[in-house]
Amino acid sequence: ATSSSLYDNFLQCTSLQSNSSIPIYTPNTASYSSVLQFSIRNLRFTSPNTPKPELIVTPLHESHVQAAVICSRKYGMHIRVRSGGHDYEGLSYATGVPFVIVDLINLQSISVDAKDGTAWVSSGATIGQLYYRIAEQSRTYGFPAGICPTVGVGGQFSGGGYGALLRKYGLAADNVVDARLVNVDGKILTKESMGEDLFWAIRGGGGGSFGVILSWKIRLVPVPPTVTVFTHNKNLEQGATALVHRWQYVADKLPRDLFIQIVINVANSSRVGERTVQASFRSLFLGGVKQLIPLMEQHFPELGLKRDDYIEMSWIQSVLYFAGFPIEGPSDVLLDRNPLTRDYFKAKSDYVTEPISEKGLKGIWKLLLEENRPVVIFSPYGGRMSEISESAIPFPHRKGNIYKIQHLVYWAEEGTKAAKERIGWIRRLYRYLIPYVSKSPRAAYLNYRDLDLGQSKNGTASYSKAKVWGRKYFKNNFDRLVLAKSKVDPDNFFRNEQSIPSVPS
Ligand code: FDA
Repeated sequence: ATSSSLYDNFLQCTSLQSNSSIPIYTPNTASYSSVLQFSIRNLRFTSPNTPKPELIVTPLHESHVQAAVICSRKYGMHIRVRSGGHDYEGLSYATGVPFVIVDLINLQSISVDAKDGTAWVSSGATIGQLYYRIAEQSRTYGFPAGICPTVGVGGQFSGGGYGALLRKYGLAADNVVDARLVNVDGKILTKESMGEDLFWAIRGGGGGSFGVILSWKIRLVPVPPTVTVFTHNKNLEQGATALVHRWQYVADKLPRDLFIQIVINVANSSRVGERTVQASFRSLFLGGVKQLIPLMEQHFPELGLKRDDYIEMSWIQSVLYFAGFPIEGPSDVLLDRNPLTRDYFKAKSDYVTEPISEKGLKGIWKLLLEENRPVVIFSPYGGRMSEISESAIPFPHRKGNIYKIQHLVYWAEEGTKAAKERIGWIRRLYRYLIPYVSKSPRAAYLNYRDLDLGQSKNGTASYSKAKVWGRKYFKNNFDRLVLAKSKVDPDNFFRNEQSIPSVPS
């Protein structure tokens, strides 16, 4: 069908399904491009060659989502569900077959019950909005989701979701206690009615395979009225290699109130015209500076911090701090969905179970110095992450991991040449790391989606093909995900380039 006849069909079908009208955009609608572009975070998928949807539907109510699913199936249209649009490979808004985007941007409601210590949050909300609403109600609750405030709740919670509270409280998905989901028949299910396997699968098994998650009930987590942060930069001349090396023996064993992450990039050196590798140690401590100083002296004196390096603040200010906003400024900047930056980027992830030698680290530095805007981020595990069993939810990366690496490369030039070179570089870095990172499988974090791990063109990969990337993301949980998928969506309506396959029973 052409977009306009599809539009007519959709208009008619959805009006039969719902008593209020659903905003639908076609390529002929004036605002189609701005609606499409607004939530695109990776500029790699804004080029004229990126496939565009036949229609974009932006539901205003739950019933609109039901109608969108029912009518897409009726007209044989493939759908992509988008919440925050931060998917690293653009899977929520681009694919090679004709498709419709169901964009949840209007479903942003958040209701916090501070008495009960829970909240219901709609998938289309951002985590920044969630943090703001929690802090508005309470100074003693927080939530352990991601650091970047414009990430969508829908994609992030369905793939795991972590930030500076992970060593204390685990992932966002570990703290989900109920959910509302539209299934393939357009019915709304809750934890009670969806059954154990499906409720398990949506907490880490990824969006796009099981249904459209409308909203999540979460358990809020206690945070003290005062937390402490620091950021401490060291470059190669200042001994960064030895400190990063040492950090690997400390980071996962620290008390769980203390999270120290390292962001490593390339900066100008003090020698004119030269560049150096800079390691930035960024930390959140759930307590005051008086408690933190002796802990740092005991566990990581090599970092050499002074009293003035520590800053005390409230938890919501620490959210602003990690997001790069002024901590004395208004916290309603967290409500803004406009991303702080838009870049071209490619990313990958790895898990580290044995410290990397200094020689190994120096090899990473050498590769970083070949690039313009590379970043590697080392995020510590241990604490609560080691206590939760590998099969509690589909996210399996628990005990035995010292830290996770995220490798990133950013660039600003349009076009395939720049992209090819930058992606070529990150693949070299990934190959270089083979001896140093987890093996069989070489594990990866689903929310750092990487199509280099394998993909199927139209989401119809066989079990054995999908297992190649499925084992990396989910280890032994992959089979249970396939069982859940096969039961709830046997015809594989909800699919993407790395979705869970449905197999005949
Ligand atoms: P988007 O809308 O693109 O969806 C991602 C996937 O989920 C797609 O397959 C989509 O179809 C599906 N989906 C979305 N909503 C759905 C719904 N309601 N029902 C069913 N399926 C749905 N991660 C992290 O853990 N910690 C962090 O600190 C960060 N930081 C960060 C910063 C930046 C700048 C980016 C770009 C990304 C991150 N991430 C992250 C990764 C992030 O968690 C990941 O990209 C999420 O999937 C994004 O969720 P969105 O809803 O924004 O994505």
